[in-house]
Amino acid sequence: MREIKNLREMYLYSLKAKSHGKKVGFVPTMGALHEGHLSLIVEAKKKCDLVIVSIFVNPIQFAPSEDFGSYPRNVGKDKKLLKNFAIDALFLPSADKMFPDGFKTFVEVEALSKKMCGRSRPTHFRGVATVVTKLFNIVNPDLAFFGEKDYQQQLIIKQLAADLNLPVEVVTLPTVREFDGLAMSSRNTKLNPKERKSAAILYKALSLARREIEGGEHDLNKLLFRLRSLIGSEPSVRLDYLVAADPKTLQEVKKIGGKVLFALAAYLGKTRLIDNIVVGE
Ligand code: PAF
Repeated sequence: MREIKNLREMYLYSLKAKSHGKKVGFVPTMGALHEGHLSLIVEAKKKCDLVIVSIFVNPIQFAPSEDFGSYPRNVGKDKKLLKNFAIDALFLPSADKMFPDGFKTFVEVEALSKKMCGRSRPTHFRGVATVVTKLFNIVNPDLAFFGEKDYQQQLIIKQLAADLNLPVEVVTLPTVREFDGLAMSSRNTKLNPKERKSAAILYKALSLARREIEGGEHDLNKLLFRLRSLIGSEPSVRLDYLVAADPKTLQEVKKIGGKVLFALAAYLGKTRLIDNIVVGE
């Protein structure tokens, strides 16, 4: 596994591989790798000749009040894990090279960025869209892999790749879950034992939505009320939002029919977790 910190070296490494006809797969991460990331890497290895993983805790996707400082970081452990997966290169850019003094250009995906998580994190997706565009320009992958746990993020990245004519195929893979259904997330390591136990209620609520709809429930308001009450029964969980939305536009829906995205964000102590499922035909 080659370790690359220099942006130009990364660009040339990928360019050379592509000039030899290799299909380059890219898995951008912020580290603290878990099985969700590993599933992306396994798929990248299946679909591509060369796999590049990046670890970069992107400062511009965190607001000043958010957890940039306490975001889980363990590059040593991540490297050991990645060695077992025999990836080709690990890209570890530094913040001052990615965002040097005088950096002024941002990528904003309108509408999609303002909904759901965008309401409580108004600058988050512009930070994500900007760093992902930069990473795509540096790594120049044929395929890039993202998890559906970050549903809104993957939609935004697909939109920006299409709008900016980026020559990359964005591949998304299902959420990987813990034994009790909790979506794998680097932030799960920040939960204390009590919070970790309580966090299972989030997927329980989403699963209830699926069961109720499959059982013929048609009253969306009644269903959302039940889901909110269920989550509210767990005193250590503070719901940020729970919505039923169109899976393509993220526009909230008023009734159940066709495919519906149930998405939520909730705080356990200071840790904010997200999850979602898509229900229906
Ligand atoms: O999902 C993440 O880990 C990050 O948002 C990403 C896509 C690597 C951009 O910093």
